[in-house]
Amino acid sequence: MDQIILDRNENQYGPAPACYDVLRHANLEQLSLYSRDFAKGRKSELSQRLADDIGIPEERVLLSYGSEDMLKQVVHCYLHQGERLLLPQQSWWYYKKIAKEVHGNHVEYPLVERGSRFEFDVDDIIHLYRIHKPHVILIASPNNPTGSSMPQADLARLIDTCSSSVIVLDQAYYGFENTDNNHLKDFLTAHPRLVVLRTFSKYYALAGLRIGYTCVGAELTHLIEFSARYLGYNQLTEKIALAALTDKAYYERINGYMREDKAMYIRELNALDGFKAFESDANFMLVRFPVEQKKVLQEGLKQRGVIVKFLDDPGVTDCIRITIGTREQNAQVVTAFQKVAARFPVPAEVAS
Ligand SMILES: Cc1ncc(COP(=O)(O)O)c(C=O)c1O
Repeated sequence: MDQIILDRNENQYGPAPACYDVLRHANLEQLSLYSRDFAKGRKSELSQRLADDIGIPEERVLLSYGSEDMLKQVVHCYLHQGERLLLPQQSWWYYKKIAKEVHGNHVEYPLVERGSRFEFDVDDIIHLYRIHKPHVILIASPNNPTGSSMPQADLARLIDTCSSSVIVLDQAYYGFENTDNNHLKDFLTAHPRLVVLRTFSKYYALAGLRIGYTCVGAELTHLIEFSARYLGYNQLTEKIALAALTDKAYYERINGYMREDKAMYIRELNALDGFKAFESDANFMLVRFPVEQKKVLQEGLKQRGVIVKFLDDPGVTDCIRITIGTREQNAQVVTAFQKVAARFPVPAEVAS
């Protein structure tokens, strides 16, 4: 039986055909050479292209080995021993580990369940900012695992108020909700200590290539110098990323399928007793399940080859995160949930 592996938010459709073409037609002799882009007055074609799209100087676009790499660099630059990092309670596990790498501490703000979403409570974040005076604030929008985005107006208020912190806006899941870049330049101007992390891993389905990019506010010169690659980045990787950027139609098409399937998950899973699928702006869904049936559900899904992520963060211990797969995979996953749920043992007091 083939497994359906949907536990790491990888884009199951794969990258655009143009990305494979780059590999097919790669000039292998170039592999022995460093980039000559510096001679053209730029770091690289890719960072120049990204800077032009966003409307900021190329100097403030940094390429990295996935956004994980840049998150580490930011924290190592701006968080020191004993200082505080403010981060979401329900979040990517690595956030909670990273403050320890520099002997810092972390303080958590919860996302709050409201109707069919988990939402950021900006007043609460500002309140914690005033109490704890964090050196770095982490906002993931969309957030992993809740799938929720912070609305632009809230983000603007947060940026205005928390002016003494470095604010890291992790947009690893940028693209699935929209590919609008309109506000980015204004935010970077309003808060010159803002860092916006993006990646080619999720929307562009290039997780294995390990490439991300970061836009930084003008005051963060230490980070710009710290992350400099004087001999250039990985030229082949950059070419593949550029190819991905040019094939907009491919990514819009697969994202359209994923949007339809997110609606399908909500419809089908919400029809099962004790389940609730939350709306998501990313390529995964947060799904609450009847926690007393956890073992049965884990075993049942595993037997059917369905691998999803059972969560253990406070506030979501009764939830699973399902990465959105291809249409075929999603249909099989829903069927697996329906079959396992139909066999849930009836609780003793109901049975008697
Ligand atoms: C919220 C969030 N940020 C960043 C990353 C890192 O992604 P990458 O290093 O592939 O760019 C992940 C990976 O799953 C993530 O969930």
